[in-house]
Amino acid sequence: MAGSGGKGVGQIVTGLGESGLGKALAAIAAAFLFRMFSGPGPALLPENSADDDDIDDQSDFDGGHTGNVVPVTIRWRSITCSLSDKSSKSVRFLLKNVEGEAKPGRLLAIMGPSGSGKTTLLNILAGQLTASPRLHLSGLLEVNGNPSMKKTYKFAFVRQEDLFFSQLTVRETLSLAAELQLPEITTVEARDEYVNNLLFKIGLVSCADSIVGDAKIRGISGGEKKRLSLACELIASPSVIFADEPTTGLDAFQAEKVVENLRQLAEDGHTVICSIHQPRSSVYSKFDDIVLLTEGALVYAGPARDAPLEYFSKLGYSCPDHVNPAEFLADLISIDYSSSASVDSSQKRIDGLVESFSQQSSTILYATPIAIRDVSKDSVKFERRRIVRKKGSWWRQFSLLLKRAWMQASRDGPTNKVRARMSIASAIIFGSVFWRMGRSQTSIQDRMGLLQVAAINTAMAALTKTVGVFPKERAIVDRERAKGCYALGPYLVSKLLAEIPVGAAFPLMFGAVLYPMARLHPTFSRFGKFCGIVTVESFAASAMGLTVGAMVPTTEAAMAVGPSLMTVFIVFGGYYVNAENTPIIFRWIPRISLIRWAFEGFCINEFRGLEFDHQHSYDIQTGEQALDRLSFAQSHIRDTVVAQSRILLFLYCITYRLMEKNKPKYQQIELPPSDKIQPEQQLEPFNTDQVEQYQPKESPPPDQIESNQQLESPEIDQIRPFILEGPAV
Ligand SMILES: Nc1ncnc2c1ncn2[C@@H]1O[C@H](COP(=O)(O)OP(=O)(O)OP(=O)(O)O)[C@@H](O)[C@H]1O
Ligand SMILES: [Mg+2]
Repeated sequence: MAGSGGKGVGQIVTGLGESGLGKALAAIAAAFLFRMFSGPGPALLPENSADDDDIDDQSDFDGGHTGNVVPVTIRWRSITCSLSDKSSKSVRFLLKNVEGEAKPGRLLAIMGPSGSGKTTLLNILAGQLTASPRLHLSGLLEVNGNPSMKKTYKFAFVRQEDLFFSQLTVRETLSLAAELQLPEITTVEARDEYVNNLLFKIGLVSCADSIVGDAKIRGISGGEKKRLSLACELIASPSVIFADEPTTGLDAFQAEKVVENLRQLAEDGHTVICSIHQPRSSVYSKFDDIVLLTEGALVYAGPARDAPLEYFSKLGYSCPDHVNPAEFLADLISIDYSSSASVDSSQKRIDGLVESFSQQSSTILYATPIAIRDVSKDSVKFERRRIVRKKGSWWRQFSLLLKRAWMQASRDGPTNKVRARMSIASAIIFGSVFWRMGRSQTSIQDRMGLLQVAAINTAMAALTKTVGVFPKERAIVDRERAKGCYALGPYLVSKLLAEIPVGAAFPLMFGAVLYPMARLHPTFSRFGKFCGIVTVESFAASAMGLTVGAMVPTTEAAMAVGPSLMTVFIVFGGYYVNAENTPIIFRWIPRISLIRWAFEGFCINEFRGLEFDHQHSYDIQTGEQALDRLSFAQSHIRDTVVAQSRILLFLYCITYRLMEKNKPKYQQIELPPSDKIQPEQQLEPFNTDQVEQYQPKESPPPDQIESNQQLESPEIDQIRPFILEGPAV
């Protein structure tokens, strides 16, 4: 048995190197490594991103530096977005024949009740509507008068969730973003000046040296985070700024400051488009243009402030005095669900308003002339100057990402403290259970049990930490990569290297406490090898966490999938099922099980050279005999470490592949049927008398006006900043 077992073990131990599977893994790993290390960053970018995201012009950078912005006018017509439901064979319209225009130097607000399609419209205009086979999107999008199916201008998209590395300060966040996005700025002084200007412009000087923070460490405020998001997006000096509900989650004061920033940016020549829920009147007065949407249809699009009030008063809906115009408009275009009669009457009113606007849209919408000549002159320049954005070299990207990953890993005190405490606590618990094992026959089983739980504990600790954090980090990386900041190769290599010192500390603490307590093989070299195996296993398990995090969309899904996969590896971990007895169809699982390789390494390290007390001839006398029973007799520690390292590299390669494959894909806009493009549609004349008169609510007394203004306060639970942080503890 020993002989055949040894043969089996030999085959398995060398399995990853010599078997077909091993060769395949090694070849794939080598191919990916070659890809990761070869060539400068842009070569590694997916083809689409080069097309879609890297169409930037060098001179825009200068523009950003000096405050000049290439003016961009976006005009959209006949935008229709529908969602088909295969099961019920029904089609739901998210946007119906929407048109509008956003002009440079003006702040456009998209307003409407919840679910009216504001975010959908914003995403479509920015070309960021997540692709889905159920969606159908058609319409005409013009940029500076030219039909544009692809982005040909620089744009910034400030999303509802603010994504940051929590341990970096505001200044460091901006400085690193500038280094990654603007390799043209080569000197530290120029970069500092650029960042300082940006901090000043966005009003972040007072918190420039505070860390961004997370749920565990208090950092900057919600409004400051929103403005930091804006500042990060401004680095590439975009022509157009999209902001999805920039005020949600902020108090009225912070909300006004953010909108003031947007207004300032519009004054600097940017085209600014934001979606917004019922703003207070002081915020409303900052908008130059508004688009009013209800149930995906257009109720009004054109100049803001008094123009919509005048327009609706002509239709018989006058805004009472002392009422916030934004509240009046919101009431006007919302369905009142308080009773079936009110639903009917409000629906009728809204249908009338939609129809009315569709007849008059061309006169209202394009009422504000734009300097067509200037813009078209600029657009010619702008089209000609389309060149691929410069990126830093592979090494530059790598060193910047290494610096950032190191700052994040080393400064995350609360997470590191918890990890250290957990490592020491579990070592103390295991050490107490297996306290000072002797050399009796029964101690053989104890040793195997301890080594197995040590392998499981190490892998689980590393896996859960990584799957708890990586999906969030991936969201940041996806966004940065969509901007073409860096390639995946330098990111993954820098992540692996930056986490080595911190990641190695915890398994070492675990080993240092457990080893003497359990009185494992008492030589210093064996202790060193034990720590080495535990550290490599921890990194391989972390790599598995990265793969799981890249495979699934959310942290919750990763938390469900990661431990389930690890359970399979535990079953084939070498202790519960002997390698020789593993059914042929499952023989590949122990070969890729990190737990099994770690357990095998621990056993060889522990048992080889040990002598046990024995009384009977059938007792196990030496450690070699114990190893033989586990089918590990022919194996070497080096082989187990090499196998773990191969698994680690293989998992990194899979992560690379998954991240490339799972990057966000956006819905393509199709041309609408030609009969729908007509600016003036042939609709039945609309008789305003038929529309039920809007019953303005009575003007509230002054004390109620106060409380109405507070209604505008955001629903804080709706949106929470999304910050890279350690695992929940
Ligand atoms: N990909 C999608 N799949 C299914 N439904 C969608 C999709 N995108 C949007 N919707 C639906 O379209 C409608 C409009 O969504 P959207 O997010 O644009 O509304 P909104 O005006 O931004 O609302 P809110 O003010 O609450 O953010 C909603 O009813 C939403 O459920
Ligand atoms: Mg929205």
